[in-house]
Amino acid sequence: MAKLGVNIDHVATVRQARRTIEPDPVWAAALAELGGADGITLHLREDRRHIQERDLRIIRQTAQVKVNLEMAADPLVTTIALDVQPQQVTLVPEKREEVTTEGGLDVIANSARIKTCMEQLLNVGIEVSMFVDPDPRQIEASHIMGAKAVELHTGRYADAVTEQEQDKEFEALLSAGRYAIERGLVLHLGHGLTYRNVQRIARIPGVCELNIGHSIVARAIMVGFQQAVREMKTLIS
Ligand code: PXP
Repeated sequence: MAKLGVNIDHVATVRQARRTIEPDPVWAAALAELGGADGITLHLREDRRHIQERDLRIIRQTAQVKVNLEMAADPLVTTIALDVQPQQVTLVPEKREEVTTEGGLDVIANSARIKTCMEQLLNVGIEVSMFVDPDPRQIEASHIMGAKAVELHTGRYADAVTEQEQDKEFEALLSAGRYAIERGLVLHLGHGLTYRNVQRIARIPGVCELNIGHSIVARAIMVGFQQAVREMKTLIS
């Protein structure tokens, strides 16, 4: 059965909307763990739009499950990762203007930068996963570079409008997954997975970890909203 890494970035997005102290992603990480999460995933972006360094440090100290830090192969954030030592780093591309991680990492085009970053992470025993499109060339490059895992980008599958389109994207993930496993890589998948589209992905042979954020945070707001209003009503009355 695939493990679930719960991405808590968007709890921090709500907090940062007011630059206040709530909701605290540290609480969300603890609750995710209580709910059965196998890992906590968080992305420390260069622009600090959601997760802050403080969140990462406290979660690393308090989580009893694996902490998976998503980050760009950038010297500054690498220094932080080396200090905090999450169990796993997932290298992702990062553009300031993007709403979310829009495509997989181009491991081939950025090989020099990635290699420098990876060597430092591997030296201190941090496992590295590469967030790549379901493209055999990128998977092969990740393997050569020394990655332990690849996280295949499921965004195109998630965004597919027609059933045919979804089938095509699913087939691409299936064969890229097979390719990765044949090369001895651990198979992760993530991005855009929801309560509606996850089951097919979870059945991909050999899939080890799914990283899911937005849909879980969205559902949490909805399933908790009624109770939150009721509690405020009680206080007022
Ligand atoms: N995996 C990676 C590498 C990501 O960058 C993200 C988004 O931060 C996710 C998984 C989670 O995607 P979503 O929030 O759409 O579930």
